[in-house]
Amino acid sequence: MSTSWATTEGTARYRQRFAHLVAPGHFRQERGLWFSSIGLGTYLGGYDDETDARYREAILRAVELGCNVIDTAINYRFQRSERSIGQALRVLFEKGRAARDELIIATKGGYIPFDGAPPIDTAQYMKETFFDPGIITPADLAGGGWHCMTPAYLEHQLERSRENLGLECIDIYYLHNPEQQLGEIPRAAFTERLRAAFEFLEAKVREGKIRMYGVATWNGFRQSPKAPDYLSLRDLIDLARDIAGIDHHFRVIQLPYNLGMLEALGKRNQPYDGEMLSTLEAAARLGIIVMTSASLLQSQLARGLPAFVSECLSGLDTDAQRAIQFVRSTPGVTTALVGMSQVSHVEENLKTARVPPAPLEDFLKLFQKR
Ligand SMILES: NC(=O)c1ccc[n+]([C@@H]2O[C@H](COP(=O)([O-])OP(=O)(O)OC[C@H]3O[C@@H](n4cnc5c(N)ncnc54)[C@H](OP(=O)(O)O)[C@@H]3O)[C@@H](O)[C@H]2O)c1
Repeated sequence: MSTSWATTEGTARYRQRFAHLVAPGHFRQERGLWFSSIGLGTYLGGYDDETDARYREAILRAVELGCNVIDTAINYRFQRSERSIGQALRVLFEKGRAARDELIIATKGGYIPFDGAPPIDTAQYMKETFFDPGIITPADLAGGGWHCMTPAYLEHQLERSRENLGLECIDIYYLHNPEQQLGEIPRAAFTERLRAAFEFLEAKVREGKIRMYGVATWNGFRQSPKAPDYLSLRDLIDLARDIAGIDHHFRVIQLPYNLGMLEALGKRNQPYDGEMLSTLEAAARLGIIVMTSASLLQSQLARGLPAFVSECLSGLDTDAQRAIQFVRSTPGVTTALVGMSQVSHVEENLKTARVPPAPLEDFLKLFQKR
């Protein structure tokens, strides 16, 4: 197991190593760490050895090209994504190609993961893995029986993630799509579940098993406040403050954002001191790091963008690069996560890092031309 975690000194060292290769503005400092503006995501792909091998190679190449943020979740590809990252990290550390304190590794817990492949008998798998050992009781489940965020379950999942990743300490641990539970349980019960989860996560920070936590969401921050699965960032932070005071460790959120999903920037759905702000604005006011998912709308934005996008976001060769440039140039976004299991995609996408983020006036022109 690798001890240590991403540090100010380590991430600054990493940034310095790439000073000749990437443009100013590619690395951003938040909470003392230098984050690359493009991060590698590991959601999509088959659950087979070949995809594992492709992800390992993609990660090695990404770290070699100035990407020090890697995002996963225990359920991605039935734990294979976490394990592939763990294998790639071992190579990086053993060969001295990167040090643990240079890389920011994020994972998520909440969904019930299979173990490498779907079981033949799902009910039997649930019974043997979770119910019989007392990790979950059926009443803990929501999201159609696939979501759980009790401390006992998160304890089990965090230990498994640490083992899969080969890391003593995970830099960012997210509750994965917690809003999934709101379709089934009342909001008051949801808040109590969140409270217990945040208390657990604060305890894990004290134990040195994670460094910070937050929520990774799909719908929650994009909905209107009246929607059943809406999340208020202010309420979440107030809950963390209530538990741990101003030095709480709820420091990061994740939500989808791209040229086709603009709510994080444009939807004023977050109450803040009598105003309604966008999620990006609210996060900035609250000092919360924002990681955006689905930068390419799961590859749909990698080709066929209208010509005005390349007029506004110049200096790039491909639509994938322009779509990534849009996300990383958005005020308030720390890291644009891009799913990449192919070295050719890593090389194409990381070329975007050689261009500075678009100036605000060019970025705003995109909206005037639409
Ligand atoms: N709720 C959540 O917490 C949540 C939800 C969704 C995503 N995420 C995170 O955010 C990350 C990014 O989102 P995503 O993976 O769903 O979608 P994405 O980044 O929008 O798209 C990933 C897809 O685009 C392809 N791609 C990458 N570069 C390309 C290029 N230059 N040309 C053509 N295709 C390209 C990838 O193919 P290859 O794999 O073949 O390279 C992959 O199929 C995820 O991997 C995950 O870590 C979190």
